[in-house]
Amino acid sequence: MEVNDRVVIVTGASSGIGAAFARLAAGEGARLVLAARRTERLEALAAELPGALAVTTDLRDPAQVRRLVAAAAEAFGRVDVLVNNAGQGMHVPVEEARLEDLQAIVELNLYGPLVAMQAVLPLMRAQGGGAIVNVSSNTTRMVIPGIGPYSATKCALNQLSATARAEWAADGVVVSVVHPSVTATEFHQTLRAGAMRGGGRLVPEAPEVVARAILEAIRSGAAEVVVPPKQT
Ligand SMILES: NC(=O)c1ccc[n+]([C@@H]2O[C@H](COP(=O)([O-])OP(=O)(O)OC[C@H]3O[C@@H](n4cnc5c(N)ncnc54)[C@H](OP(=O)(O)O)[C@@H]3O)[C@@H](O)[C@H]2O)c1
Repeated sequence: MEVNDRVVIVTGASSGIGAAFARLAAGEGARLVLAARRTERLEALAAELPGALAVTTDLRDPAQVRRLVAAAAEAFGRVDVLVNNAGQGMHVPVEEARLEDLQAIVELNLYGPLVAMQAVLPLMRAQGGGAIVNVSSNTTRMVIPGIGPYSATKCALNQLSATARAEWAADGVVVSVVHPSVTATEFHQTLRAGAMRGGGRLVPEAPEVVARAILEAIRSGAAEVVVPPKQT
């Protein structure tokens, strides 16, 4: 699907990959619905992008996620693309994982995308199709000691996405997953718990590169798009 003139919801649009993708998609003629918790940042970005709508949303709250989709449908009359990008890390060894931290990131990284997908599905079905991109992580394609709890949430997202892709194919709703590697965003400063360790040999990729991978996933409908790590 091309995004020109399409209504595109982007979660986690207040920084990093989500903001970069919103700018890229707007440049391609998309009509953006921007979601995250920080209203000021969302409104500043919406002011930059012609016709964009900012909807302050805590993706951990299912009622707010449903309200976001309803606000998009009310403003634009349709929803063509959903990019489930909001997410948070938790970089601790398995032995040290606290359940309250894991629960918080499961709510954001897994329940949020699930509720958003369930909310857009009837709209996309009625329109004859749509595209959903779930932003996962390249960490799910390997074993990296120290980030297992975070990676586990994204592995669950991968499986949910692949199954939704199979279940909704007949409705023309295409579900894709994008796997970024280490990216230069606020992600490593806003971890739910722990800290980035041992990633020293990796050069962070620019968020604009991941934004292009998300656009590629929407255009191609590929099951997975991987952004390979930059090496020194
Ligand atoms: N950066 C990396 O190295 C990397 C690598 C692989 C995968 N990823 C994935 O890429 C995605 C984007 O991350 P990023 O790198 O762009 O990090 P980021 O700059 O920290 O952006 C995270 C976004 O998620 C939003 N968010 C966090 N908690 C939220 C909540 N409860 N409700 C609504 N929005 C919430 C934040 O906005 P507010 O704080 O305003 O709510 C922010 O816009 C995430 O899913 C992450 O797991 C990142």
